[in-house]
Amino acid sequence: MPSLTVLVAIYSYLRFWNIPVQHVERLRREFPAHRFLHATGDDEALARMPEADVAFAAELRGRHLSCATRLRWVHSPTAGVGGMLVPEMVASPVVLTNSRGLSAPTIGEHVVAVTLAMFRKLPQAVRGQMARRWTQHEVTEPPPIRTIAGSRALVVGLGAIGGEVARRFAALGARVHGIRRRPERPAPDGVSLVAPPGALPDFLPDADLIVLAAPQTRETWTMIGAREIALMKRDALLVNVSRGKLVDEAALVSALESDAIGGAALDVFEREPLAPESPLWALPNVLITPHMAGFRADHWDAVTDVFADNLRRFEAGQPLVNVVDKAAGY
Ligand SMILES: NC(=O)c1ccc[n+]([C@@H]2O[C@H](COP(=O)([O-])OP(=O)(O)OC[C@H]3O[C@@H](n4cnc5c(N)ncnc54)[C@H](OP(=O)(O)O)[C@@H]3O)[C@@H](O)[C@H]2O)c1
Repeated sequence: MPSLTVLVAIYSYLRFWNIPVQHVERLRREFPAHRFLHATGDDEALARMPEADVAFAAELRGRHLSCATRLRWVHSPTAGVGGMLVPEMVASPVVLTNSRGLSAPTIGEHVVAVTLAMFRKLPQAVRGQMARRWTQHEVTEPPPIRTIAGSRALVVGLGAIGGEVARRFAALGARVHGIRRRPERPAPDGVSLVAPPGALPDFLPDADLIVLAAPQTRETWTMIGAREIALMKRDALLVNVSRGKLVDEAALVSALESDAIGGAALDVFEREPLAPESPLWALPNVLITPHMAGFRADHWDAVTDVFADNLRRFEAGQPLVNVVDKAAGY
């Protein structure tokens, strides 16, 4: 295979979301035949794009693609690529791959952690601790402390993340049902019933716990709105580790303010960072985490492994893994 020019363009206002330079160096060592360009900002990415055969990038938009005259393949360090599926990308022959699966076990743990925290009223206990107050009386008042064992969980999206979530809940004694776009596919371990998205309204009234793990696509945009929330049990817990835009946030706030549902554990929001004036911050039945469900210490090693494996396939003319279906949106 002739030498390739690979543009590494993974930068963000968030420190963590900038690929550390040692990982770019690692790629240079492992693939000495290729030329790696490292852009640390948008202007640099735009300037280097015309040279790139391959981009390892998180946030390409139409303006990047319009000057990408040689580009054949883009690999994203994230699982969610909704933001990159601009019309220019969908229309272009450029292959798009993602890093689905990479953070799924970590996110599975996060979902168990926030569910247990909410079921066991840990935020209330921590608020008491911060005020040096013994809250035994308050935490044992209704609503009662709950267990995952015996709960009915509904996992929306049964891909890499949904599968890890389902397996963990089933192991802890929950009955797990799932919703996925293609219900005919084999169900992940621990899921006793799978249905298509159209069946969501039938499944919501029965769930103690609803986990959103579907991608952001045209079909999933505000799939949880006032109508769906109204179908949930009064003590239902909603956990969102997918993307904020799957939920109508205003409808959710109004349901939480009126105790129409039990609570929410939210890792993702309509707009991030969540604005200081958002009513969500002050609601006692909400656990907010700052889009951190997938973080772990060796994150960039794992991201670079996935890309390096795919680059070897690309060099060898073999099929790439994690090819995004641009029409389906994930
Ligand atoms: N919070 C975080 O830090 C974080 C980190 C990583 C990813 N994420 C988010 O999590 C999403 C899922 O990641 P993943 O790795 O699990 O992706 P994945 O393996 O591609 O799985 C996506 C799942 O969603 C299902 N789905 C698609 N459209 C649906 C619909 N309309 N209704 C219900 N289910 C639908 C798919 O169904 P089929 O299996 O039938 O195709 C599939 O099971 C990503 O797209 C990203 O937005 C968040």
